[in-house]
Amino acid sequence: MSFKTLEDAGDIRGKRALVRVDFNVPMADGKVSDDTRLRAALPTIHALSVRGAKVVLLAHFGRPKGRRVDEMSLKPVVGPLSDLLEQPVTFADDCVGPETERLVELLEEGGVALLENLRFHAGEEKNDPAFAAELAKLGDLYVDDAFSAAHRAHASTEGITHLLPSYAGLAMQAELEALDKALGKPERPVIGIVGGAKVSSKLDLLNNLVGRLDRLAIGGGMANTFLFAQGHDIGGSLAERDMADTAREILQAAEAQGCEILLPVDVVVAKKVEPNAEARSVGLDEVAADDLILDAGPKSVARLVEAIDASKTLVWNGPLGVFEVPPFDKATVEAARHAADRAVAAKLVAVAGGGDTVAALNHAGVAGEFTFVSTAGGAFLEWMEGKTLPGVAALERA
Ligand code: 3PG
Ligand code: MG
Repeated sequence: MSFKTLEDAGDIRGKRALVRVDFNVPMADGKVSDDTRLRAALPTIHALSVRGAKVVLLAHFGRPKGRRVDEMSLKPVVGPLSDLLEQPVTFADDCVGPETERLVELLEEGGVALLENLRFHAGEEKNDPAFAAELAKLGDLYVDDAFSAAHRAHASTEGITHLLPSYAGLAMQAELEALDKALGKPERPVIGIVGGAKVSSKLDLLNNLVGRLDRLAIGGGMANTFLFAQGHDIGGSLAERDMADTAREILQAAEAQGCEILLPVDVVVAKKVEPNAEARSVGLDEVAADDLILDAGPKSVARLVEAIDASKTLVWNGPLGVFEVPPFDKATVEAARHAADRAVAAKLVAVAGGGDTVAALNHAGVAGEFTFVSTAGGAFLEWMEGKTLPGVAALERA
């Protein structure tokens, strides 16, 4: 892994820095409802601004498919962003064109502008070289601080790196360094925790991980599929019963590659998925026909905790149970708290990511105690699948 960082950019006073950020933030009633991604961009914006660069922010919002859709404007981001930065942010109604060029020219040293949604132009998602050239006209250098959009080969994440000197921003750099520590060159033993509903959506991920990890704990709905494949009665539980062969293949691949798989040895069941539904912890041979498996049981958690203690690195994606509906959050919360304690005690490098995972760690109150928590969704998954992310490859080549 090698890419240029902001330190390599030299004297940038008066230069126009085009910064790709991910401001694809949750909005409710036209207002930013979660500013995590805005906050993530602050260190890079600040670092460039204090060095006297003119900071020009490139971002997408939603999927407008190449035309202007007013509800997908980035304008609602301007207010919250300038509050966080404690400095005014100029907004350009279009991300390319002569007026935008003029507006960028007029920025003061250290000034910040946000350009309208890149995806209002079809050239963005097509990675059209002509559109990338239009963007490149607006800058003297390019900084990518949007790891969570790096799985897209778009003009603003890939094409532009062919045209301008390109650097990783501080958030991108931190993310890549953390991910490298977790799966690239991890301290062993490495354990993975993978949960979530479906084996089918995480096949590539499971296959990649069994070749890289010393242990892999499988939880959530997908664990039911594995238990079913092993011949256990899982009652009415959510599972992909048609994936049993695939599940067995993954278990065989794990065995062949020396990856120990940890499946639940006991489970928490209820008749309904309802808050405070009557829940029972039972052994694998005690699941009734009308039971739903909704979480891993206490013995499984104890075994997972031991496995975490025996590991130096943890990479986590997906909850172990239906954590949104207590008491089925217990296994997830206990394992997360334990991992966080180990991380705080500097005994474990604990890296987690993916939409649900962040929500689960926040629910457990420990996201801040993990070594690193990625807010990327698709990009984090593709990275766990071992895929090359075009936006990252572009920085490595640049
Ligand atoms: C995200 O929110 O995951 C990123 O911004 C990527 O958005 P996309 O899935 O629309 O490309
Ligand atoms: Mg998305």
